[in-house]
Amino acid sequence: MILVTGGAGYIGSHTCIELARAGHEFVVFDNFSNSAPAVLARMEQIIGRPVVWQKGDIRDPAALDKVFAGHPVSAVLHFAGLKAVTESISQPIDYFDNNVHGSIALMGAMARAGCKTLVFSSSATVYGPEQPMPVAEDAPCAVSNPYGRTKLVVEELLSELGRSDPQWRIATLRYFNPTGAHPSALIGESPLGTPSNLMPLVCQVAAGIRPSLQIFGDDYPSHDGTGVRDFVHVMDLAEGHVAALDFLTKNQARIVVNLGTGHGTSVLEVIRTFERVSGQRVPYEIVPRRDADIGISFADVSLARELLGWVAKRDVDEMCRDAWRWQAANRG
Ligand code: NAD
Ligand code: WQD
Repeated sequence: MILVTGGAGYIGSHTCIELARAGHEFVVFDNFSNSAPAVLARMEQIIGRPVVWQKGDIRDPAALDKVFAGHPVSAVLHFAGLKAVTESISQPIDYFDNNVHGSIALMGAMARAGCKTLVFSSSATVYGPEQPMPVAEDAPCAVSNPYGRTKLVVEELLSELGRSDPQWRIATLRYFNPTGAHPSALIGESPLGTPSNLMPLVCQVAAGIRPSLQIFGDDYPSHDGTGVRDFVHVMDLAEGHVAALDFLTKNQARIVVNLGTGHGTSVLEVIRTFERVSGQRVPYEIVPRRDADIGISFADVSLARELLGWVAKRDVDEMCRDAWRWQAANRG
């Protein structure tokens, strides 16, 4: 049985679908601070059987002990946490409490239960701003906001944990830019309030919820001047987690691995692709660069291929198509 913290969230819910497809049993543990229990019913519709879940907070040791006591958990996929960069600047204590304290409480509960296999959701945000691209896992880390720091602190803690007790099997996965939705349009990304990531904003503009998209800068050293990112389909990420889990089952190891496609796509290319596959217009205006934004970011994915045998299969067309299908079916 796999324990999925944050399993009702965007990446966690899609990963549960893939876990089920691969024949894994799982239990979702979520406090629903950034998701709704209704997602679980949608997941049940997709996988065709009940989802086992427990409402709880990873900072609550008693709730964690209860989930370990109630299920034979062999490994944990740890998605639970807060993820909004701007919010983390105004609420650093909440971010450290949820992401760092929460992860420490989880590791404690795992140790008490004798479960020492963990896949951790980290982020490409841990890489410093001036890295040559593609960026590989051994590039220096440098974070510029509290959210990124919480990820780096947990990464460091996990590496100390592994040094202290080699029985721990740990995969730290650094996601690049997750986008898209399950092709059923039953689950997808549901940002509360104003989204900050590109694709949900593009979807809302296409749906007429916002009048236009602001493109943050067209003077980056990319072919059209707009920012470049390694957008990766959430179902590819989901498959990456199952591959990481399989790797840890076979290897007593600790690994840090990028999950991306290895290709950069510019903001304008995303807009053009989205318009083509959705048939919707996405009006935009060019505005100055966003504070602390990096220009170009894409992953060196050779380690993921080598260690996990995982390669992202879905292209930007599919990301846009699935994101739009989800938006159109569920959110106006
Ligand atoms: P999400 O907000 O959709 O999902 C996180 C889930 O965790 C939510 O269901 C939320 O209710 C739950 N949660 C939050 N704090 C909790 C707590 N203290 N106890 C129990 N549950 C809690 O976010 P997501 O996009 O699915 O991201 C999942 C993980 O991946 C996060 O750790 C995030 O930092 C990381 N990540 C996300 C991205 C991205 O762009 N989406 C990129 C890199 C890394
Ligand atoms: C992508 C591109 C923007 C919005 C963030 C977090 C990172 C990770 C993923 C969690 C950039 C441009 C965006 C808009 C725009 N999350 N853009 N207009 O900045 O790569 O990463 O999400 O770990 O930590 O920092 O993603 O989607 O915000 O931006 O022009 O309204 O789209 O400038 O070039 P980013 P993003």
